[in-house]
Amino acid sequence: MAAFFEETVTHVHHWTDRLFSFRTTRDPAFRFENGQFAMIGLMVDGRPLLRAYSMASPNHDDGLEFFSIKVPDGPLTSRLQGIKLGDTILIGRKPTGTLVQDSLLPGRNLYLVSTGTGFAPFASIIRDFTVYERYDKVVAIHGCRTVAETAYSRHIVDGLHADEYMAEVVAGKLVYYPTVTREAFEHVGRVTTGLRDGSIPAKAGLAPLDPALDRVMICGSEAMLKDTVTLMKDLGFEEGSSSKAGHYVIEKAFVEK
Ligand code: A2P
Repeated sequence: MAAFFEETVTHVHHWTDRLFSFRTTRDPAFRFENGQFAMIGLMVDGRPLLRAYSMASPNHDDGLEFFSIKVPDGPLTSRLQGIKLGDTILIGRKPTGTLVQDSLLPGRNLYLVSTGTGFAPFASIIRDFTVYERYDKVVAIHGCRTVAETAYSRHIVDGLHADEYMAEVVAGKLVYYPTVTREAFEHVGRVTTGLRDGSIPAKAGLAPLDPALDRVMICGSEAMLKDTVTLMKDLGFEEGSSSKAGHYVIEKAFVEK
């Protein structure tokens, strides 16, 4: 058996000069849990060049979707940003990851806290109808530098509200909270600041974060994870894992060094 599935690019969209998303075909044998990631990449000089990417599409989707940064001198993303319809993408056979429902104790509201391309696993989770059966509210918080960088998450959320079936599922349950740090917007400031001072739950019409009731999934840069974990601990939240469910789970967003 080959180490990778070879899938075909079916769609590419450049959101900004730093961010793009793309879709590929999906082998029916490639199964994953919403929120997981896989190694994906390209053949370069006869060798596979791979990085970890969260699946942004939900697992009921016939295709696969990914959301990526473009790093000008990044070994993979400098090439990946040039992909065209019909190109081949390698997809590793073993999806994995910690942003899965079984690592969390049951709760009232699910907070999905991301920055940048850290939104990718949550694009999968908020398109999974079963998550709305588990929680009263699903709160998708996306911190970005600029308003333009929130375009992908806004597109996913708008798509849910426009979808014949999902519109009813998400109505009154999905709360979308984009916040930007480098220009004026409806919500400004880092996600960590707004969660620590309580302004994000307050502006979203929700009670302050409470480990007895709320569950949190976190995905962003290393610095963002460090600060958000400190905040979680200060608020009395305990980290969950596949062996012991807890109040929050974290995953590093794909960053190419
Ligand atoms: P800032 O503009 O203050 O750096 P990036 O694209 O660089 O990953 O950033 C995405 C968003 O994450 C930006 O709004 C950025 O804010 C924010 N950010 C960067 N570091 C942290 C951190 N340690 N905690 C929370 N948010 C962060």
